[in-house]
This record gives sequence, structure tokens and C-alpha cells, in this order.
Amino acid sequence: MNEQPIAADRGGIRLRGVHKTYGAGEATVHALRDVDVDISPGELVAVLGASGSGKTTMLNVIGGIESVDSGTVVVAGQDISGRPPATLGEFRRVHIGFVFQFFNLIPSLTASENVEAIVELTGRGNRDRIPELLAAVGLSDRANHFPAQLSGGQQQRVAIARALATDPDLVLADEPTGSLDVATGREVLALLQRTTRAGRGVVMVSHNEAAAAIADRIIHMRDGYVVADDRNATPTDAASVRW
Ligand SMILES: Nc1ncnc2c1ncn2[C@@H]1O[C@H](COP(=O)(O)OP(=O)(O)O)[C@@H](O)[C@H]1O
Ligand SMILES: [Mg+2]
Repeated sequence: MNEQPIAADRGGIRLRGVHKTYGAGEATVHALRDVDVDISPGELVAVLGASGSGKTTMLNVIGGIESVDSGTVVVAGQDISGRPPATLGEFRRVHIGFVFQFFNLIPSLTASENVEAIVELTGRGNRDRIPELLAAVGLSDRANHFPAQLSGGQQQRVAIARALATDPDLVLADEPTGSLDVATGREVLALLQRTTRAGRGVVMVSHNEAAAAIADRIIHMRDGYVVADDRNATPTDAASVRW
């Protein structure tokens, strides 16, 4: 196979022959089967598929949260295939920003403190930039509010500010609009779209075709297989997404 080098500076991704199972014996679940995917630095990629098709597993493999049984995983120029997730803390801190369906904010910390916590924890990013980050996600006036005082969409915007605070190469977002209504989901999609326009890669898992249509690329999964991988010549502007 003609292997092209992966750009090591930003968040390029190469998956080759990746297989991932959970459990053993008759209970074995094949979550990823023979997955080959190449993602260039700075692409906005949607991973689309039914529940149980392996989307989250793929994202967790890319983010160094899950190991693989076989195959090659190269992310941001690093081959992480043989490395146990417990040893990949530094890799995750330096390269990856995570956004989850249920936001995962710390309830006892304000919006601003939630972002600050990741800067403290990772030793990456700059505390002085937090007001700027919150402004970028439209939350300057909510910086001192606690998660419970924010709407779902606002909480997800805090989570995006948090994911960006460490200046990662790659943002991995698992169903980021899954628990939001259409209007707030659209704001979150717009932010993800803007994130890549600033040169950062985004891989977003969704089971919603309308949301996935904002991406430059759409990878379809079924039963652990990548069944289609299509360039989207006409990404929808997030502001006009309807579902
Ligand atoms: N920790 C786990 N232990 C056992 N099975 C799992 C685990 N995580 C995921 N699975 C199984 O792997 C398959 C793929 O799951 P997942 O990647 O979460 O799919 P999706 O995100 O597309 O819903 C499913 O059959 C799921 O039940
Ligand atoms: Mg999932």
C-alpha cells in the first residue's frame, strides 16, 4: 500500500485495519471491524450511524481512550496503536479536546471555572484567554453562572470553550447536539464549524443526518464497519440546519 506521511503538526488521523471487540467468548461484541479511515488535519468529519454501530468506539480509539485489538491508529503523527489508554494522558492533554452529549461540566464550578479547571489540570492553554474563549462561544455574560443556571445549549457551549482551552489539534465531539433542541443544537454546530475554519480538526459523531450535513466529510458506519466515506461538496451552513 502506498502510505502517505501524516502531517504531524495538526490533527491528522490514520486508521488501518482497526478491529475492536468488547467481551469474550459468545458474548464478544465486534464494535469496529476492519476500519480504514484517513482524516486530514483541519477537516470537519461527521460519523453517522445507528445506535450500536461503533461510532463512539471509533471516537474513543482516536482519542486514546480505548485500545484496539489489532490494526494501526496514528493520530497527530503519533502511532498510539500499541499503547494502553492509561499511558496516553499526555497524548490526550496535548492533542485532543473532548465534547460529550451530556456536557460533563463540574456542577460546583462556574462556567469560567469549568474552563479554568481544564487549563489547571492539563497545564495547557492560558487562563488569561478564558474570557476571550467564553466570548467566542457567546457566553461573556454567563461566565459566573453555574451549570444548573445555564440552558443545555449554553452548557454545551461552555464544554466547547473548555475543549478549545488547551489549544488541541483535534476536537472529538460525541453526539454534541444529542440532548439539545433544534435552535440550540444549531448554535453548537455553528461553533464546531467555526472551529475547523480556524484550522482545527473536528470529528463529530451523530445519528442525525441533518446535523452531519454540516461536515466536509461523512463517514457512515453499520455493525462496526465503515460502509461509506463521502466527501460532502456542499456542506450545509450550520445556521440553516433543520431536523
Ligand atoms: N464498554 C463496553 N462493553 C461492552 N460492549 C460495549 C462497550 N462499549 C460499546 N459496546 C458495544 O459495542 C458496540 C458499539 O458501541 P458504540 O461504539 O457505543 O456504538 P454507537 O456509539 O454507534 O452507539 C455496541 O454493540 C455496544 O453495545
Ligand atoms: Mg455512541
